[in-house]
Amino acid sequence: MTDHGTRPLRAPRAAAVGGPGFFVTFEGGDGAGKTTQATLLEQWIGESGGSVVRTREPGGTDVGLRIRDIVLHHRGHIDPRAEALLYAADRAHHIDTVVRPAIARGDVVIQDRYLDSSVAYQGAGRVLDANDIRALSLWATDGLLPDLTVLLDLDPAAARRRLDADDKPFDRLEAERGEFHARVRAGFLDLAAAEPERFLVLDATQPPELLARRVRDAVAERRG
Ligand code: TYD
Repeated sequence: MTDHGTRPLRAPRAAAVGGPGFFVTFEGGDGAGKTTQATLLEQWIGESGGSVVRTREPGGTDVGLRIRDIVLHHRGHIDPRAEALLYAADRAHHIDTVVRPAIARGDVVIQDRYLDSSVAYQGAGRVLDANDIRALSLWATDGLLPDLTVLLDLDPAAARRRLDADDKPFDRLEAERGEFHARVRAGFLDLAAAEPERFLVLDATQPPELLARRVRDAVAERRG
């Protein structure tokens, strides 16, 4: 028999950064243009004299690169809960050793993917409980939330055409079927609707320069 204990469950703490730095994450399906937008923002902050740390999940550390290799390239099945734990392990180490120190120094951290990817891919995509997945990531990171999350929203069929044009082999997640990516997209949009003050949702079919301007405005507004 499973003992769930008698104490009521407590939701993990969640807090925006609050330190001298600024933490911005880019989210969205594969092929939505996150990397392009992260690069344009990095250039803009650099030109205005800010110190930037550009990073990503999975694989923002040496330990994370090994985890990335498993989650993206392992041949064969990985149990969905194991997959969720692998992403959370990558995240715990990355936030503790790279992101929190950068924020404490006053840097701007620009990150491709964070906990919202876990809720969308492992929660909505793999059909695990979204609250469990979020709680796992918040435990892993001691409750760190970004100051701003940019969601690049794109229809999965359009995203697939972009990936096909790239001509790179698909990783484990990219190779999932269309319904999986439709659930992931809906999962991201639900997250954005639940936290409208943290999210900036952009239509990823718009020209990159226009998207970049919207991102810059949102960063400038929040950094003050
Ligand atoms: P990404 O680095 O964006 O892929 P690429 O280098 O091909 O642009 O992300 C790798 C994959 O991992 C992507 O398909 C989304 C998935 N992912 C999750 O499923 N859960 C997570 O928590 C994260 C961070 C990524």
